[in-house]
Amino acid sequence: MRRVTTGIMVGIVVVGTGLFAASASGQQHRRASEAARLKNPARASAESIAAGKRVYQRYCLFCHGDAAKGDGAMAPEDVTPSNLADAAWDCGSSDGEIFATIRDGVGPKFDMNAYKGRLTDQDIWNVVNYLRSIGPKAGTR
Ligand code: HEC
Repeated sequence: MRRVTTGIMVGIVVVGTGLFAASASGQQHRRASEAARLKNPARASAESIAAGKRVYQRYCLFCHGDAAKGDGAMAPEDVTPSNLADAAWDCGSSDGEIFATIRDGVGPKFDMNAYKGRLTDQDIWNVVNYLRSIGPKAGTR
């Protein structure tokens, strides 16, 4: 009887550890794909794009530049802001990934800051729509 109980206990520990490991790796995977799966709730209307442009000019232009080509004159000296008007998206090219990049910033140095807390989600989606409106149109979504 005692041996059976021990066997069951060991079994529970083994299964439990397995579940824990699976859920830990699952969490990392979920975080990466969470951004990709985020749906843009803001229709790319003229209003949304105009609102996004205002946010861009106020918060982003000095680093990313007038036409978002990454050539902002006021960018700190050792900082290389990305071109946001070309087809290359190092941090992910879906609306949700661009949203998450602006919301969470880009580590480990965070020259690209996290705007969570400074901009509302709506502001960020508007900026995503604005960047879409100035970038290459086809095949990048
Ligand atoms: C202090 C300068 C600075 C400001 C201000 C700034 N950025 Fe950035 N941004 C950067 C840098 C530097 C990178 C590149 C980060 C990296 O790859 O390490 C970057 C990267 C990005 C990327 C990722 C581009 C890609 O190829 O995937 C997006 C999107 C972006 N910025 C949007 C914005 C928006 C929108 C704002 C305004 C709300 C903003 N940034 C404000 C410096 C800045």
